[in-house]
Amino acid sequence: MEANFWHQKWAKGEIGFHEGEVNQLLEKHFSTLNIQPAQTVFVPLCGKTRDIAWFLKKQQHVVGVELNEAAVCQLFDELGQAPDVIAVGELVRFSAPNVVVYVGDFFKLTPEHVGYIDVVYDRAALVALPETMRAAYCAHLLHVTQQAKQLLITFEYDQSRFSGPPFSISEQLVERYYAKAFTILSLESKPVKGGIRGIDALETAWSLR
Ligand SMILES: C[S@@+](CC[C@H](N)C(=O)[O-])C[C@H]1O[C@@H](n2cnc3c(N)ncnc32)[C@H](O)[C@@H]1O
Repeated sequence: MEANFWHQKWAKGEIGFHEGEVNQLLEKHFSTLNIQPAQTVFVPLCGKTRDIAWFLKKQQHVVGVELNEAAVCQLFDELGQAPDVIAVGELVRFSAPNVVVYVGDFFKLTPEHVGYIDVVYDRAALVALPETMRAAYCAHLLHVTQQAKQLLITFEYDQSRFSGPPFSISEQLVERYYAKAFTILSLESKPVKGGIRGIDALETAWSLR
């Protein structure tokens, strides 16, 4: 997906992917990753997810990246924080206590930008990208986080009925992208309420360690 695709989605308010509340699979399974308070969670393609507020409440530090600046402004508004904003090369760094979000292209992010990452939380990031971008996304994610363990949340449905995004990610695809780096464990699959565009779909949480 090109940057413009996402900027238009945000401009038109077509953000059906935004849950508005904490992801249930995150709440249920995050503890299995054994993360301690003050450790850092990286949230790629973070939008304005409420999951960031949840991490902060749990005393986690958060680093995110998001293309759309208005989304990041809304994120900080909803956190009740007035961020410091500075340009860092081609990215813009928004920060407040315990949270940093880079505005710009994920692929421009370096390990120096993100610092040490204890865990990656990927919800609606891998599934947001078309097949042509996914291998590069996974490789760059492993690079910038130095293979930090992950809680990955995917959708699976009949891809022939809807072209995406979100894209359908099967167990075979998770293995194709991550089996070299991680031991992959499926934690839970549950039906998506109302499906995706009315098509039956499963939401699955994966532990990658
Ligand atoms: C499907 S949304 C998911 C947002 C968030 N993870 C959530 O759960 O609500 C995907 C987000 O990725 C952002 N995005 C897409 N491509 C990106 C890129 N190359 N770099 C940074 N953000 C990107 C989009 O603007 C959009 O907000």
